[in-house]
Amino acid sequence: MGSYLGISVIFSVLCLLGFSANAHGVFSVPGSSGSDITSALLKAFTSACQAPTPSKVVIPKGEFKLGEIVMAGPCKAPIEITLHGTVKADGKALHGKEKWVVFQRINGFKLNGGGIFDGEGNAAWRVNNCHKTFQCKKLPISIRFDFVENAEIRDISSVDSKNFHINVLGAKNLTFDHVKVIAPAESPNTDGIHLGRSEGVKILNSKIATGDDCISVGDGMKKLHVEKVECGPGHGISVGSLGRYGHEEDVSDITVKSCTLTGTDNGLRIKTWPSAACSTTAAGIHFEDITLNNVSNPILIDQEYCPWNQCNKNKPSTIKLIDVSFKNIKGTSGNKDVVKLLCSKAHPCANVEIGNINIQYKGADGPATFQCSNVSPKLTGNQNPKACSTPPGTAAHKKA
Ligand SMILES: *[C@@H]1O[C@H](CO)[C@@H](O)[C@H](O)[C@H]1NC(C)=O
Ligand SMILES: *[C@@H]1O[C@H](CO)[C@@H](O)[C@H](O)[C@H]1NC(C)=O
Repeated sequence: MGSYLGISVIFSVLCLLGFSANAHGVFSVPGSSGSDITSALLKAFTSACQAPTPSKVVIPKGEFKLGEIVMAGPCKAPIEITLHGTVKADGKALHGKEKWVVFQRINGFKLNGGGIFDGEGNAAWRVNNCHKTFQCKKLPISIRFDFVENAEIRDISSVDSKNFHINVLGAKNLTFDHVKVIAPAESPNTDGIHLGRSEGVKILNSKIATGDDCISVGDGMKKLHVEKVECGPGHGISVGSLGRYGHEEDVSDITVKSCTLTGTDNGLRIKTWPSAACSTTAAGIHFEDITLNNVSNPILIDQEYCPWNQCNKNKPSTIKLIDVSFKNIKGTSGNKDVVKLLCSKAHPCANVEIGNINIQYKGADGPATFQCSNVSPKLTGNQNPKACSTPPGTAAHKKA
């Protein structure tokens, strides 16, 4: 009796909201091409989220405007959102906002459908100065996954974000598969996928071409597995920067394998701030089977990361790097600084393993260099250039 009443209440609520699912729990978002679907999508999501059985929200083919939208759980049952069309960030509606599309506190979530999130970043990039200074106007991150669990993001694209393309915070068991990120090399701050304070994230079979880091790993990230990702242009794959703020959490268990980087400004990086505001540990960071095509600074541990001279470089980093490996890394470098392992004087990197490395540099200012400081890596296999053969010099690179 009680449950009949419950179901009829739910249906009444759905009808009031103007949505009822078809027999298979599918909520279609109405909209003609060019129209703004913000409120229609929010209504469809809200109805689906209240549905007692798994449901699906479908955005059809076509181009739609979309303003800032937060699709927040907890939901009563798993939800799938299928985006067939293109949603475009409405410039005026997003003025001064820090986010565009947010998926929040949903357990059991799928996003798919081959559709595109177009951040229409072009106009915003011209006024963005966040890559040059701390004080800057915030632009909206295109897609946020906040505290989303048991989720799969498949076959979607993010194009021309105004700020980061995708941000992951507080996720558990979330997989990206066949995701595309596309923005021009010159677009500032358009990180592909930034992750932090999450556990059990996979990024598979994806393509990231953007103006900043392809993948950047923030503090508190645990169990990240990146495999078969193509990256470039962009600033490469980066763990950190770590140690800029107090209250940061440890990083552990990061694996990047079978990836290709092409024309990126950096390759595989770990960066920590000197005079760190906290003393955390980053442990278990493994890079293997990586192909580099014309990548500047292919392999870099930088514990003196200090863009814009915002720190005291004389105070060594208090972030401990432990159990780090680079194995079977091959290809070509865009500059002579092929490998730099610049660890902290206060906390030398511990248990670093360097396997087969074969990175060619053909420039006139060669030969290629391999610098080590405050680290004695265990060498397995062959290294070209010869491991730790160059005395550490001044850091020539400095791209945020
Ligand atoms: C992880 O999430 C997927 C859904 O994407 C689910 O099928 C799987 O059972 C989850 N794994 C665990 C260990 O909960
Ligand atoms: C390598 O990359 C640089 C920019 O970093 C570019 O100017 C150059 O043409 C590239 N070379 C090749 C062979 O692709």
